[in-house]
Parts: sequence; structure tokens; C-alpha cells
Amino acid sequence: MSNPKPALRLDVVTIFPEYLDPLRHALLGKAIEQGILSVGVHDLRDWATGNHKSVDAPPLGGGPGMVMKPEVWGPALDDIAAGRTGTELDSAAKHRNDKLRHDDVANVAPRPYESPVAGDDASKPLLLVPTPAGKPFTQADARAWSREEHIVFACGRYEGIDQRVFEDAKQRYRVREVSIGDYVLIGGEVAVLVIAEAVTRLIPGVLGNTESHEEDSFSDGLLEGPSYTKPRVWRGIEAPEVLTSGDHKKVDAWRREQSLKRTRAVRPELLEQVELSEEDRFMLDSREVVSVFEVGGQRVVAKQLRRALKQAGYRAETIERNETTLTVKGRTALSLEDATQAVADALPKGTQWSGYTAG
Ligand code: ADE
Repeated sequence: MSNPKPALRLDVVTIFPEYLDPLRHALLGKAIEQGILSVGVHDLRDWATGNHKSVDAPPLGGGPGMVMKPEVWGPALDDIAAGRTGTELDSAAKHRNDKLRHDDVANVAPRPYESPVAGDDASKPLLLVPTPAGKPFTQADARAWSREEHIVFACGRYEGIDQRVFEDAKQRYRVREVSIGDYVLIGGEVAVLVIAEAVTRLIPGVLGNTESHEEDSFSDGLLEGPSYTKPRVWRGIEAPEVLTSGDHKKVDAWRREQSLKRTRAVRPELLEQVELSEEDRFMLDSREVVSVFEVGGQRVVAKQLRRALKQAGYRAETIERNETTLTVKGRTALSLEDATQAVADALPKGTQWSGYTAG
């Protein structure tokens, strides 16, 4: 019986075929073995002609380095568009008898195919050209490209590939030049490993638990906050108490807060591109405070105080009262003076008070 068509076919053209060997391992190797992914690797030199089988030449107009030749790349991309398969990568290890991990889901319904770019001829394969001069590769690209059926990667080395190759390739491919970051690698192979992994892990059935994508960094435009596992105390360092509280709502709120704060600290520009709720803004702008008031014998109703404080932008988490002292612990974006004034204003009319708020 022949294998069903894989969800994704990757073809990679390179002058260093062995560089793609990491694709045979771990999750991608497993995807190959499960028939979800198939990978063909093509040695560009197979299309080189002449005694030296050279693939590059000095740049027109002079300058350093070498440029890869269009007469070699053109036929290579033609042949692959026409169905040439190259050397098929197999999985590095047998995974078939592995026990299903707890987060593996055996049967995930395939998602309907969506054309990744409106108006593009999606019947043409996608040609990805890794280059530091390309558009930055993002998680949104990974998501869109995980729905492709056929992606061809053209790995350049030296000073790149003659630009006419891509102009011409538009007849047979949707061409995208992509960069994996603002630094310069020696060639596109490592970028292919990066993109292939980011794309393949999003294909249903590859990673298993689909929720783990939804919580990925960037999925909601924010970075993911820190993670913890057992034991609760390790080398004297405690994991945040809320995570062992069993209160899922509190855990979710804490995670959201961590995600927002990490994003602001590490990638503040990302925050400008996401729509933040009022609650998100409060989480970001507020801090924990404590207000300590001497209020004599005056009766204070916690419920009323909490409501009045909330109106003023001071969220009281605990309100404690003993003989003469009132202690409010909570969160606010107000200045310490304004928080003190908010507590004073929330007290019953005519209450004699002295107090302060500390942050
Ligand atoms: N080739 C060389 N540098 C690169 C980069 N930063 N991204 C993608 N491909 C590259």
C-alpha cells in the first residue's frame, strides 16, 4: 500500500546537502516517519556544468565575494517545480513504537486549506529564499506556511544568488525572500532549519497538543511569561504561590500579567501592535501598595470602602481593621499621595484620619 500524500513537502536546494541532516531528528524526524512531512534535498552542483562544476562567479560591477550563477539555479528550480524529488530524507530513529506522550493527540482533524496570501496563485509552490535582505520571518508566517502543501527552499551562499533567478522563478513559484534576523549567516541552510521547524511544528498532529501553540510566545502578539514545574521549592527558591493555588482564574490572570510585563521589559515595541484590554492596562500600570490609616473608633464597612476605592482606581485585595488601625492592601496606578487621598475620600464622612500609602 502506498503512503498517503504528506501534509507538507519540503524541497531544499543547497551546495551542502549534509547541512540539512538535523531535519531527520526529533519532532521533524517523527513527522517524516508518520508521513506528515516529506523532505527532498538537492545538491545544486548536480546542475553545474563544465570541468569545475562552478556555481558562482564574481559580481557584476565589482566588489567582494561571489554571486551564485543563474544558469545553475534556473534549471534546478525548473526541475524541482516539475517534480524532481532529489535525495529523500528519512527519519534518524524509529519512533513508531514510541509510547504516545501525554500531550500527543493521535487524531487531529485536518484544518481546511486557506490560501495564505489573498490573490496569490496558491497552486504554485512557495519558493522561500533565506537572505538577510529579506522580510523578517514571523510566527504569523510560520502559521500561514504550515498550511502550504509544497515549499521549496533556495539556499544561497557567498554574496547571494543572481536576482534574475527569482524574477524568472515567479512563473512557476510564489517567491518570498525571508530573513530570520538582523545578523548575517554564511548561507541560508541554518535559516531553512529554523523556518522548517517553526512551520512543521504547527501542522496538526505533529506536536500533539494544539493548546501548546495557542500559548506560544507571539501567538497573541506577546511573549510568554516564565514557566515552573515541581518541586515547589528548589534550592531554597519558591515557585510563585499562585501556581499551586488550584485557582485557574487566578493562574490565568497571573500568566497574563507576567506575559505583559515581560513583553514590556524585553520587546516594548510589540505592545504597541496588540489591542490591550482595560484589565491589561491596569496590570501593566498598577503596582502593589499598602495603606495604613489611624481612624479612631470610626466604623468602616469593608464592602463600601472596597467599592469606593475601585471607583478611584485602587483595587483593594485585603482590608483589615483592628482597634484603631485600618490596613488596605491592593493594586493601583495612582501615586502614593493620590492613593492615600483615595482611601481618605472613601472613609465615612467626618472620619478623623491620619495615614500613608507605601509602594
Ligand atoms: N542568510 C544569511 N543570513 C541570513 C539571515 N539572517 N536570514 C536568512 N538567511 C540568511
